[in-house]
Amino acid sequence: MLQTILVTGGSGYIGSHTTLLLLKAGFEVVVLDNLSNSSLESLHRVEKITGKKVKFYQADLRNTQQIADIFNENNISSVIHFAGLKAVGESAEIPLDYYEQNISGSINLLKVMKEFNCSQIVFSSSATVYGDPASVPINESFPTSATNPYGRTKLFVEEIMRDLAHSDPSWNIILLRYFNPVGAHESGLIGEDPQGIPNNLVPFISQVAVGEREKLRIFGDDYSTPDGTGVRDYIHVMDLAAAHVKAVTSHVKLSGITTLNLGTGNGYSVLEMVKAFEKESGKSVAYEIVARRSGDIAECWTDPSLAEKTLNWKANRGLAEMMKDTWRWQNNNPKGYKI
Ligand code: NAD
Ligand code: UFG
Repeated sequence: MLQTILVTGGSGYIGSHTTLLLLKAGFEVVVLDNLSNSSLESLHRVEKITGKKVKFYQADLRNTQQIADIFNENNISSVIHFAGLKAVGESAEIPLDYYEQNISGSINLLKVMKEFNCSQIVFSSSATVYGDPASVPINESFPTSATNPYGRTKLFVEEIMRDLAHSDPSWNIILLRYFNPVGAHESGLIGEDPQGIPNNLVPFISQVAVGEREKLRIFGDDYSTPDGTGVRDYIHVMDLAAAHVKAVTSHVKLSGITTLNLGTGNGYSVLEMVKAFEKESGKSVAYEIVARRSGDIAECWTDPSLAEKTLNWKANRGLAEMMKDTWRWQNNNPKGYKI
């Protein structure tokens, strides 16, 4: 029988790319999403690319009954849990919404899973749980801390899941700490579609290139990095999606709780990212250097070896492919999924 995976947040950026690969790998996919930060068009395009159907529920994690209805109507074997709010700045303005949707929402989901004897879950955590790391590369044994409500929701949910796994050995939980996801599916049909002004670097760069924004503001060139701008570990969203497919198939051999960093192990500066984008798109990206953004750190990249070994997976798309695919998506869809 085909395994059915519930993907919460499956119409969002990482969720839609993961849904695509799950369908290609032969899984049945049920998506739960309240569409607060995404459009159903992403899943229509996933269906177009794969020639397969996605079962979609417009449902909210704050509503336990809606989650239970999905479990009642489907034989869910594993859950990939992407749904939640993710804007660091906004989380400081509306912390209760972040705690309610990210933490209470996750608890509601876990309670329903327990009721239906579904004990396999992959959770979207973030490199933000390492706070300002003492050194790089970062591995999974580094101390964790949070500097904003969003980061705290990731840390708390990780801890809740750890307690749950310790309370009952039948749980099989994989915490994936993403570094910086970028890029889009090679078709140019699905990609990242931020609402309003993008917070993240690559969507901002590509919106400047396509004429939607005037210029990029580079937040500080006085960090102690080779060119003074911030350094991050950018990972292609298709490599990230592939890691999720490996994670759901690794549930059989892993037990208890497993924590893995997902990145490439390479750090690139903001200026290197701008140059790489210009090269792949043939467009020039206007920028100005402005003050540092509060809360930013100088550099952040991972030692990816534990994830590689545990999942038998490796991020194999380089910077050129990340930029080429970002540009194809942005150029074909200057306003994202909006017509
Ligand atoms: P996204 O906003 O594109 O996807 C999240 C989806 O969850 C959206 O489709 C949204 O509509 C849905 N959602 C939000 N609250 C919901 C609720 N209460 N009930 C049901 N659906 C809800 O974000 P993304 O970039 O795809 O991120 C996916 C996950 O990965 C998030 O948990 C995010 O915190 C985490 N993450 C993202 C990044 C990144 O840079 N993109 C980095 C680290 C971790
Ligand atoms: N940057 C700019 N200008 C911009 C946007 C970003 O110069 O307009 C710089 C930042 O200062 C940083 C780099 O580009 O040096 C990357 O910034 P992003 O906002 O794209 O990514 P962050 O590393 O700050 O944050 C990301 C996710 C967070 C997550 C964090 C740690 O967006 O959700 O990684 O995992 F918490």
